[in-house]
Amino acid sequence: MGLTKLSTKYDDYAKTCKKGHLFKILAMDINKENYEEIGLPIIQKAGVAHKIDFREGPALPVLDLLVEDKNNHGTYDFIFVDADKDNYINYHKRIIELVKVGGVIGYDNTLWNGSVVAPPDATLGKYVRYYSDFVLELNKALAADPRIEICMLPVGDGITLCRRSS
Ligand SMILES: C[S@@+](CC[C@H](N)C(=O)[O-])C[C@H]1O[C@@H](n2cnc3c(N)ncnc32)[C@H](O)[C@@H]1O
Repeated sequence: MGLTKLSTKYDDYAKTCKKGHLFKILAMDINKENYEEIGLPIIQKAGVAHKIDFREGPALPVLDLLVEDKNNHGTYDFIFVDADKDNYINYHKRIIELVKVGGVIGYDNTLWNGSVVAPPDATLGKYVRYYSDFVLELNKALAADPRIEICMLPVGDGITLCRRSS
C-alpha cells in the first residue's frame, strides 16, 4: 500500500518527480522482503528511495495510527491499495479520511479474475472464490459511497479509481 503526499500542484508533478524533493511516499507491506527484493531495486534505480518511508507490518494498525492524528486527515494526494483483499473495505473506511478532497484512491484487482460478475455456478479456483465476496463487497460499497466518484479501469485485473469529491 502506498500513500503519497505532493506539496505542489499536479501540473508540476513530472518536474517534481524528476527533481525529487517535493513529495514523499508512505509505503507498507507485511513482508519486508517483498519490498526490498522486488520494489526497492527499481525505486533505487529511479533515484527516489530517499522519498519513501517504508513500514513493515500489517497495514491496518498503521492506518489506525494515521487516522487517530487529525492532522493527517485530508492530506494525501494519492493512495494505492494492493494487499489483502479481505481487508479492502476496512482500508477504505480509514483511507477515505486521509485522502484530500480532489485526491485519488486506487484499488487494484477489483475485477478479481472476472469473478465479481461470474454466475453463481461458475467454476472458480479456491483462492479466487475465497476473496471474490470481499472484492464484491468493496465494489458495492464504493459505488454507494457519496464521498467519491469512481471509475473502474478494465485493465489487468481491474483497477478502481476513486476521486474524493467531498
Ligand atoms: C500483489 S502484492 C503487491 C504488488 C505491488 N502493488 C506491485 O504492483 O508490485 C501484495 C502485497 O501485499 C502484502 N500484504 C498482504 N497482506 C498485507 C497486510 N495485511 N498489510 C500490508 N501488506 C500486506 C504482501 O506481502 C504483498 O507484498
